[in-house]
Amino acid sequence: MCGIVGYIGNNAVADVLLDGLKSLEYRGYDSAGIALNDNGGLDVFKAGGKLNNLFEVVSSNALKIKKPTSGIGHIRWATHGKATIQNAHPHLSNDGKLVLVHNGIIENYKELKAELEQEGFVFNSQTDTEVAVHVIDREYRKGCSLEQAVRQGVSLLSGAFAFCIMHKDEADCIIAVRKNAPLIIGLSDDENYIASDIPAVIGKVKKIIYLNDGEVAVVRKNNVEVTDLSGNLLNKKVEEIGFNPEVISKHGYKHFMLKEINEQPDILRKVLAQHIKASDLPVNLGQVKLKLDWQRIENISIIACGTSLHAAMVTKYVWENWLGLPVQIEAASEYIYRKNTTGKNSLVIGISQSGETADTITAVKQAKEKSAQVLIVTNREDSSIVRYADSVLPLEAGIEISVAATKSYSAQLLAMYWLGLYVAEQKKTLQPAELGKIKQEMLELPAKMEEVLSNAENIKSVADKLQAYKSVIYIARGSNQASALEGALKLKEISYINANGYAAGELKHGPIALLDENMPVIAVLAQGETYAKMLSNCEEVKARNAKLIAVTSVKDKHADNLFDDILRVPEIREDLSPLLLNIPLQLLAYYLADGLGREVDQPRNLAKSVTVE
Ligand code: G6P
Repeated sequence: MCGIVGYIGNNAVADVLLDGLKSLEYRGYDSAGIALNDNGGLDVFKAGGKLNNLFEVVSSNALKIKKPTSGIGHIRWATHGKATIQNAHPHLSNDGKLVLVHNGIIENYKELKAELEQEGFVFNSQTDTEVAVHVIDREYRKGCSLEQAVRQGVSLLSGAFAFCIMHKDEADCIIAVRKNAPLIIGLSDDENYIASDIPAVIGKVKKIIYLNDGEVAVVRKNNVEVTDLSGNLLNKKVEEIGFNPEVISKHGYKHFMLKEINEQPDILRKVLAQHIKASDLPVNLGQVKLKLDWQRIENISIIACGTSLHAAMVTKYVWENWLGLPVQIEAASEYIYRKNTTGKNSLVIGISQSGETADTITAVKQAKEKSAQVLIVTNREDSSIVRYADSVLPLEAGIEISVAATKSYSAQLLAMYWLGLYVAEQKKTLQPAELGKIKQEMLELPAKMEEVLSNAENIKSVADKLQAYKSVIYIARGSNQASALEGALKLKEISYINANGYAAGELKHGPIALLDENMPVIAVLAQGETYAKMLSNCEEVKARNAKLIAVTSVKDKHADNLFDDILRVPEIREDLSPLLLNIPLQLLAYYLADGLGREVDQPRNLAKSVTVE
């Protein structure tokens, strides 16, 4: 949700910034801009829409660009003010000397704007960001150093921010500061980088510093100094970058989404190798350090957003069955604004791929304040959310670039499965024979997933037939209710086709009114208690002339005639089936969206990490 970069060094500054922004494109693509500081002037280039437009603006101005020594850049996901060039960052002070880029939301911008306007400051955009430029500029003009002006200026701001700030008269430095929005400093010889996230510096630096809230970094070509808001020098830990440049390449796939879908069997294999080594061996925690007092836990709440919330839904279904403990799930944005019952005997699990989702962070922070035990399940152990964790369960899915979550969802399900089994083993809530059977089927999952992926052509041909429809309904029961919701979410977010998921039993209470030959229904079926009921629901759909597609793990010749198309996955027990049944749903959404010519990796209006509430 907005990405920012900064660079100071001897390389071509504009190119470095554009390259950094390219790898942060998943954070927003409403507009983009850079500012270049060349020791005598500040040049600002902006473009509306996708980053490619900024590449064109910069290349058509190539002759104007002198030899900048530093620069900052921004890619925007619009919050305050439309996606126009006027609202694109970087934003300049009224004298054109101070410039900044911002990720976050300044909540008290209206009050500050009124005050600044009274003092004569002129606003040139509708953004909340512009108040930050003026409050820092106001301090600077009082005669303090840029660094001190930043400290004093940001102390007036409430909300969330990560800033990169430059001043025309101080071309030898960039100031970086953050509160509730991520920011890293990439360290190298004779050059240093600033970025919202690691992909922007992968392959460029080997060492990074994670900036914490309330820290101010003065970044120069040859050194970086980090202080707190009172100016005290901090001894920051320098960390090695744990990713290689491979992770941000498409590896020949047309889109990151397709690459990430295809990575899933290997991710499963890697995770299983650490935690479930054989069906007759106990679940192994491996490197995961669980500091949880299970004796104290009376209830479990799982808090998440988007796809991660669907992983929570599957977990509720499976854990209540395996552990006999009540599990509540809730959208983080709802949990944080009501009087919930979380207390010291609660286990609160925050699931977040990015670890930067503002609502989920606020939720787990609140839970921590209520003395609950907090477990964070995330793909980014280096993310902001882990600050509130008693324990962290890393997903190990590798960096996910496509905005639509795929491999991280499978990794979330797998993590919750093996952890659930671990707890069941500790609490003896499942018989050893049953535990063994579940583990055996888990170990077979990667090969079965490969089998589904090898059927991609068939899935594509079904997707092609769906291109003409404006709406699609997904139905399922049991643990696959989440599959129906996730399948529908995937389709709507990347194809813009209206898609809704329902518990199949709910169809007759309203949605059935939508059914006719123009409304295809995708039924997700697994073997188990509700299979017969699912078939009845499918009959009801068929009787309304709707096109009916099965995504199924059940071999049932008698049912075949019911469906216009069938996408099969290998047989699997019901509780584990969401992991397999979700794969055709991911591919269906992918091929449909690609067939319609959508920008699959960067769907409109979305961003990968939503760092605002
Ligand atoms: C955004 C993304 C979704 C994601 C959700 C939660 O909306 O577009 O794909 O599921 O955020 O993200 P998280 O990083 O917390 O899992």
